[in-house]
Amino acid sequence: MDHVTIFLILWITLLISCNGFDAKQPNSFDVIDYGAVGDGTTDDSGAFMKAWAAVCGADPSDTPTLTIPSGKTFLLKPLEFNGPCKPHNVNVEVSGSIVAPNSISGYEGHDVWLSFKGIDGLIISGTGQIDGRGSVWWWEPNETSNQRRPKALSIHSCNGLQLSGLTHMNSPKNHISINGCNGVTISHLNITAPQNSPNTDGIDISASTQVLIHDSYIGTGDDCVAINGGTSFINITEVRCGPGHGISVGSLGANGAHETVEEVHVKDCNFSGTENGARIKTWQGGSGYAKKISFEQITLTDVKSPIIIDQYYCNSNVYLPQDGSDVEVSDVTYIGIQGSTTSKNSISLMCSDSVGCTNIVLNQINIRSAVPGVETSSVCNNAHVTSTDCNPPVNCPSSKI
Ligand SMILES: *[C@@H]1O[C@H](CO)[C@@H](O)[C@H](O)[C@H]1NC(C)=O
Ligand SMILES: *[C@@H]1O[C@H](CO)[C@@H](O)[C@H](O)[C@H]1NC(C)=O
Ligand SMILES: *[C@@H]1O[C@H](CO)[C@@H](O)[C@H](O)[C@H]1NC(C)=O
Repeated sequence: MDHVTIFLILWITLLISCNGFDAKQPNSFDVIDYGAVGDGTTDDSGAFMKAWAAVCGADPSDTPTLTIPSGKTFLLKPLEFNGPCKPHNVNVEVSGSIVAPNSISGYEGHDVWLSFKGIDGLIISGTGQIDGRGSVWWWEPNETSNQRRPKALSIHSCNGLQLSGLTHMNSPKNHISINGCNGVTISHLNITAPQNSPNTDGIDISASTQVLIHDSYIGTGDDCVAINGGTSFINITEVRCGPGHGISVGSLGANGAHETVEEVHVKDCNFSGTENGARIKTWQGGSGYAKKISFEQITLTDVKSPIIIDQYYCNSNVYLPQDGSDVEVSDVTYIGIQGSTTSKNSISLMCSDSVGCTNIVLNQINIRSAVPGVETSSVCNNAHVTSTDCNPPVNCPSSKI
């Protein structure tokens, strides 16, 4: 071969390999290229942090993707993915599996496993899974280590967050925790843990606004979605929930706290085998409000307490001062709630003597007992209720207010 031929061959080889590289997506940062092994036992934390630094510092004119490839399992220690990032949007594409340490000591005292903080335009999507392997924590008898139980995925302080497609499973504690975010869309998630796993909420939201959750399955044995203080404009549609504790607003006002929740709308959801359905819980002695809340077109299958307001919430034996202050509950609408219950009192509106609940509307409610021939009924205290077409009927004298 003469020099020209050799040059041509080299040039063509280079061209092909460059094209091959280009085909891989120009802005993909694959964790494998940063040294991740993905055999499920090697600690890939260092490689993920290096890849994240490249993604977060990428050229702002393009949207970079942190790629977690399929067919592999990545073991990660507690990690902090921190912003702010240079690009306006940052993709995290999870096709493979991510697993947590399978020992308590593997967490080295951290109370969050995967933390994303201060990142705007974060999009986490894909068909992969995030497995918290929480069983090492669930049955831990030691009180202190129980309190340190880590949340699996915590997203703090963000604008324009999107989560979609992934399976989240077996978190030591809450699966997904959203705090301090504005503009969040969560869809097509599958969040699962065994029914008897303790305190493994599906999605917890606090101090956030404009949150949409739709088309997801959540069955973790605890709250499917918990809406905590400082939240507003939360819409939840097409969610299948159970087993677990239903969709809860609160608890609000613990230890005398001032907390507010408003504009929460839950529509076209199914509860199956859950402890509660639509629940609002507040502590005595707190202040603030939970208002403008609606539950519409809800299908129940064997739900213990389908409709419940509990202004006397207390899950410990701590003494609560009766100083007459309470979190106000008002403008709560239930429309089109139907299906079966496993308990006698399927509607329970237990409002406090001091503050009570105002403008509670029940319309087109049809809840029957899962046991044929058994009647279900309602209980209430100090609730101002307007009800039409409501079975069981609610008769709540509200003279105390
Ligand atoms: C959710 O994920 C679990 C665990 O991988 C799986 O068994 C289940 O079929 C999934 N459910 C849905 C509705 O996708
Ligand atoms: C949220 O739900 C309310 C009540 O159904 C509806 O009026 C509003 O348009 C919804 N908002 C979004 C952003 O979907
Ligand atoms: C809820 O159940 C009803 C009746 O079984 C069904 O038509 C609807 O599609 C279900 N919705 C979801 C979100 O699973």
